[in-house]
Amino acid sequence: MITTQDLVQAAVDATQFCYAPYSNFKVGAALLTADGAVITGVNIENAAYSPTNCAERTAVFKAVSEGQREFVKIAVVSKGAVSPCGVCRQVLTEFAPTLDVIMADLDGNIRHTMRLDELLVDGFGPANL
Ligand code: THU
Repeated sequence: MITTQDLVQAAVDATQFCYAPYSNFKVGAALLTADGAVITGVNIENAAYSPTNCAERTAVFKAVSEGQREFVKIAVVSKGAVSPCGVCRQVLTEFAPTLDVIMADLDGNIRHTMRLDELLVDGFGPANL
């Protein structure tokens, strides 16, 4: 059984693999799947800047590419415990509109917990097509 604090710690541990030489702003994410798997992600920057991928999207894309599409919660860790950017909110909404989003600092202290549908109100999703 993975606790929320375990999930946060997985995100903290993942930050060792961040590739953020331009911003020096490290973000780690850890996604808990419905079957209890933990899939981590980190931000991966690029010299051309715009191809940069956030930690949350790295985690989702890793998960989906491994056959996982049902998510229960995500831990996101960074300096200041930031919340996911708009693009990541949209990508997460595709698969888990009621996902619990846990935001913690780089020491693993949880600062905020919100549901994704609070972070992206009235989001556009598959049911709208
Ligand atoms: N970043 C994330 O990985 N997740 C967020 O929720 C916010 C921003 C990354 C992108 C970039 O590498 C760095 O943080 C600064 O924007």
